[in-house]
Amino acid sequence: MARVAPSLIAADAGRLAEEARAVAAAGADMLHMDVMDGAFVPNITFGPWIHGAIDAAVDLPLDTHLMIADPDRYLEDFRAAGADILTVHLEACTHTHRTLSRIRELGARAGLSLNPGTAMSQCEALLEFCDLVLVMSVNPGFAGQAFIPNAFARIEWLANRRASLGLSFDIEVDGGVKPSNAPQLRDAGADILVAGSAVFGSADYAATIASLRG
Ligand code: DX5
Ligand code: ZN
Repeated sequence: MARVAPSLIAADAGRLAEEARAVAAAGADMLHMDVMDGAFVPNITFGPWIHGAIDAAVDLPLDTHLMIADPDRYLEDFRAAGADILTVHLEACTHTHRTLSRIRELGARAGLSLNPGTAMSQCEALLEFCDLVLVMSVNPGFAGQAFIPNAFARIEWLANRRASLGLSFDIEVDGGVKPSNAPQLRDAGADILVAGSAVFGSADYAATIASLRG
């Protein structure tokens, strides 16, 4: 069984709070909050103001994915806006150990994300400082993109390193996740499946979430 984190940017932007409550009622384990700044990724979504409004509207853990340059600038603001997990991109950090440590100091779970073109070996020295590692299965910036299959081997690599190092971080996968590839992702070792268009593009949120969960 995997946990399921619907990605809110695939929802109806005019009804974000309502959509967040709908997936909570449909059995989502957490809500994936894609923060984009138009610099690290070629898209802009929302900041702490909207993030805080969603936190107030729904009783779900917020899995906040910071696709922003120099994320150290905003860790406190997004923690204060309700982030339970704060995930930063390895490619956006200068002193990643310090950033992950700061996230934990703030009382959030520390997540580290790698883009599809980043070698997994680059995160090995940081694994012991992570509560979650996010494997991107699309290039970040948009929902609805095609799944990049190198994610399967990257998840397996992480699961093997976690076992051999005796660590317990969660493995999360994000981008192009569907009921059709979810079983193979779970078998590869994914603990949390992020799904945007698969959930919000479906007619029955609960059935889709249950299908992804396995
Ligand atoms: C992409 C985001 C993902 C994306 C997922 O940059 O990090 O969370 O919105 O949406 P789907 O599941 O439609 O690929
Ligand atoms: Zn995301």
